[in-house]
Amino acid sequence: MATKSAKEFEVHPYVQFMTDKYRPYRKWIESEGIPIVSGSYVADVRTLELGDWQRKGGKGAYLSFSDQLVADGYVCEIPPGGSLKPGRQLYEEIVLIAGGRGATTIWYDGFPKRTFEWERGSLFAIPLNAWHQHFNASGSEPARYVALTSAPVAFELYRDPEFIFNTSYMFKDRFNPEEDDFFTKEGKYYTEYYGGILHSNFVADIRKINLVPREARGKGTRNMYIHMAGSAMLAHVSQFPVGRYKKAHRHGPGAHVCLLDSTGYTLMWNEGEPPKKYDWHEGSVISPPAGTWHQHYNTGKVPCKFVALHANTAVQREERGVEQIEFEDEDSAMRTMYEEECAKNGVKADM
Ligand SMILES: [Fe+2]
Repeated sequence: MATKSAKEFEVHPYVQFMTDKYRPYRKWIESEGIPIVSGSYVADVRTLELGDWQRKGGKGAYLSFSDQLVADGYVCEIPPGGSLKPGRQLYEEIVLIAGGRGATTIWYDGFPKRTFEWERGSLFAIPLNAWHQHFNASGSEPARYVALTSAPVAFELYRDPEFIFNTSYMFKDRFNPEEDDFFTKEGKYYTEYYGGILHSNFVADIRKINLVPREARGKGTRNMYIHMAGSAMLAHVSQFPVGRYKKAHRHGPGAHVCLLDSTGYTLMWNEGEPPKKYDWHEGSVISPPAGTWHQHYNTGKVPCKFVALHANTAVQREERGVEQIEFEDEDSAMRTMYEEECAKNGVKADM
């Protein structure tokens, strides 16, 4: 398999907490009584089996992928005509609506409540330690979202749910509770980061944001980073054309790739080992373990689009380059496999 890489800087893949006998985060999620999906991948969050989640007042499952302990996901369903219980927390959270429509109310104690409406494809972050409550706007259909949180960090450090869920401090540098258009104002695009970063506290439809070329990751690849609610965690959208795939790369832990459009697959492998194949479509989530090579292939008839939610440990510094395998250095078996997979869909590989 392909092992020759353009290594431009030293990657530190193991920037995670030591696992010890206390395992505070793991013990916490096990105490919640909902399914815990491990591994690195879920085929479809829209149909994933969930369990009753008393703390939230809906149904849920944890996505505890790749033993990363920097960011973990969960899937949650709000019952038709219902709402989840209000909550606040000393960790960050990014929410992607997988299906349904509804509204979220966010506030700090003693300040006005801010409410915005969402539907499939909406993306937002819960400001740190702000009260939040999600409502389903449909009386007949459930609503589902997938979220990425930095809960592992909070639990590994503080180990006390009472402190994490019951502290009244307001982080006003992130969320000004007197700003009445905090979630409704127009997002702003900047160019200082990877050619494009959108600052927005609420994205109505992640499929419709502006993208900029990022040819270094593959011809025709387009990209946009998203910074929300003053969070350290962030998101980025990547799009690549019909008949194409992106260059293999690797980085630190905490990236959760949520597929939005098209069909395809991801290959993941550790240096010197054969790759494993993960098929995907809308609703699939894949999280490459720290330092693991991964490569995303579009086999569908429309451009592939995904939004990756990530801890800041998964991000590389642009000026140092990206640790990736150039197309001319890749294993020819991977190209052959891609051409065959495209042909099954009546798509011509266009590499
Ligand atoms: Fe990646």
